[in-house]
Amino acid sequence: MRCDDGLERSGILSEKVRLAREVYLLRFEVEGFMSSIMPGQFFMIGPCRWKRDPLLLRPFAVADKKGDTLEFLVKVAGFGTNDIVRCEIGSPFHLRGPLGRGVFKPLGKSVALVAGGIGVAPLVFARKYYPEVVSKFVLGVPNGDWADVASWVKSECPEVVIACDDGTIGERGTAADVLLNGKWPIEEVWACGPVAMFKAIYAGLNGRVRILGSFESRMGCGIGGCHSCSIPTKNGMTEVCSCGPVLDVAEVCLDELI
Ligand SMILES: Cc1cc2nc3c(=O)[nH]c(=O)nc-3n(C[C@H](O)[C@H](O)[C@H](O)COP(=O)(O)OP(=O)(O)OC[C@H]3O[C@@H](n4cnc5c(N)ncnc54)[C@H](O)[C@@H]3O)c2cc1C
Ligand code: FES
Repeated sequence: MRCDDGLERSGILSEKVRLAREVYLLRFEVEGFMSSIMPGQFFMIGPCRWKRDPLLLRPFAVADKKGDTLEFLVKVAGFGTNDIVRCEIGSPFHLRGPLGRGVFKPLGKSVALVAGGIGVAPLVFARKYYPEVVSKFVLGVPNGDWADVASWVKSECPEVVIACDDGTIGERGTAADVLLNGKWPIEEVWACGPVAMFKAIYAGLNGRVRILGSFESRMGCGIGGCHSCSIPTKNGMTEVCSCGPVLDVAEVCLDELI
């Protein structure tokens, strides 16, 4: 599916850095004017050669925008991501975006960021976009293989606290554990990661503060035209691509998500 409202862009893969066995930092030089991008927004991306195949572009959260350069963190999950990270520097890409009306925006003066694994991408951008409101940043990683990912996040956001499931780097425990066991006051949380992490934070904070979560779901078009990304909320099925990806966690039926 193509859209014709100025969201279709061409870009060139200009840099590729391997940060972990299956995690890459990719930079794209994107042609032409790019409107401002809010934290949480994402692009559907894929190599131009996919146009010859029935392959759908894949969604990735913006990790940073510097001038006409867009940055993404890509974790290999299956065929599409594997093919994307194998592309050579200089490969032409198709990028659709920025997409998503549900974005990270603060209610008050203090926000704690909590990332699970690759979910750190939009939160790094959020931290840079709102440096004055981010009071705490916790990144949860599974093991020491993620050390270079953690170092990259630290180089961008020096205050980040690393939580590690097996304790090999940072503090032992999950990102939710480290957030909830900390002695700091929490006014609002922005999170991106697995559903189990959303559930743990929501249960731990007992509905006391607003939690915004960036949700993932299988996407076809990214622009509200195919309904493939709908998830259950208290107001009925909601399309993650157009109403999200950032939604109020209290509104989402977490127990019905797979
Ligand atoms: C708004 C949004 C932002 C995202 N941001 C990032 C990001 O910054 N970095 C990153 O690495 N990934 C991100 N993802 C997930 C990424 O889009 C998927 O991992 C990717 O589309 C999988 O494509 P594939 O062809 O490699 O995998 P497939 O071969 O299609 O599937 C492999 C596995 O990945 C699962 N999967 C497929 N699509 C998704 C999806 N959209 N969300 C979650 N799981 C999926 C499948 O269920 C399957 O288990 C984001 C997803 C969304 C919806
Ligand atoms: S991906 Fe098509 S409606 Fe959301």
